[in-house]
Parts: sequence; structure tokens; C-alpha cells
Amino acid sequence: MSRKEFYILFVDLLNDIYSGENQLIDGLPHLAEASTNPKLKKAFTHHLKETKEQKKRLDEIYHKIGEHPGDDKCEAMEGLLSECTECIKHYKKSPIRDAALIRCAQCVEHYEIANYGTLRAFAKELGRNDIADLIQHSLDEEGEANKTLNEVAEGGIFTSGVNDKALNS
Ligand SMILES: [Fe+2]
Repeated sequence: MSRKEFYILFVDLLNDIYSGENQLIDGLPHLAEASTNPKLKKAFTHHLKETKEQKKRLDEIYHKIGEHPGDDKCEAMEGLLSECTECIKHYKKSPIRDAALIRCAQCVEHYEIANYGTLRAFAKELGRNDIADLIQHSLDEEGEANKTLNEVAEGGIFTSGVNDKALNS
């Protein structure tokens, strides 16, 4: 594989990730709205802010390499988000829906972690440590977002948050 081919592979992945982040910017407000647990709602809202910053970081990467985002839609992210929509349709607003949404959101985070990890490795291979550092920042945020979802789940989504008052009274 030539360096040029490898660079094209890097840009293809960058485009995929960019499309994914854009889809998430549209999708995360719906996930926040659809959840009942306040901690979960907050996690989605907080990650929306981070996702907007991640998009800016990707714009910076495009600028650095003199490219523009492609038009292709990331079908994997489209599929992951349609599973979220299915959960919302299938389960009424309840802790069960929250549990289903956490599972879907963790699938999204793991997908993003895999892609950012690969993109960072590709950037290093291309000798662009400046770009790898930008990617690392987003990778850390995705890892934290996944950890927060774990904490919400392990915090007992059936007894925490909205039900706290009832249990403590
Ligand atoms: Fe992201």
C-alpha cells in the first residue's frame, strides 16, 4: 500500500467519523428528552456539548490537511441511532427505556472509541502527531462518556434519580 493510499484511508475514516458526530449532534437531544433518570439526561446533554467540540476538532483536522468533509453518511452510526429510535418507540418513558437507551448509547461510544483509536494510530503513522493529539482529546471524552453511562447503570437506574425522593421519604 502506498502512502497516498494510506492517506486516502485516513480521510475516508475521518469522513465517517465526521458524519457520525453530525448525526449525534442531531440525535443526542432526543435521547436526553426520551430518558427519565436525571443523571442519564445530564450525561446525554453533557455529551452533546462535547460532541459539538469534537466536531470542531475534526474541522481543525480538515483544515490542517487541506481537505473538506465528504458527503457520505456513516451508515453504522445511522443504524446505531435507529436502534435508539426503536427503543424509544418500543418502551414508554420508564427506567426500562433508560436501561435500553444506556445499552444503545454504549454501543455508540464503543463504536466511536474504536474509530477514534484507529484514526489516532493512522495519524501517527502519517507522522502527524499534532493531529493525533487532537484525536486523543476526543478519544478521552468518549471514554469518559462511556464510563459515565456505566456509572448511571451501576448506580441502580431502577432506584436512583427520579425514585430517590420516594425511597428516602
Ligand atoms: Fe463523539
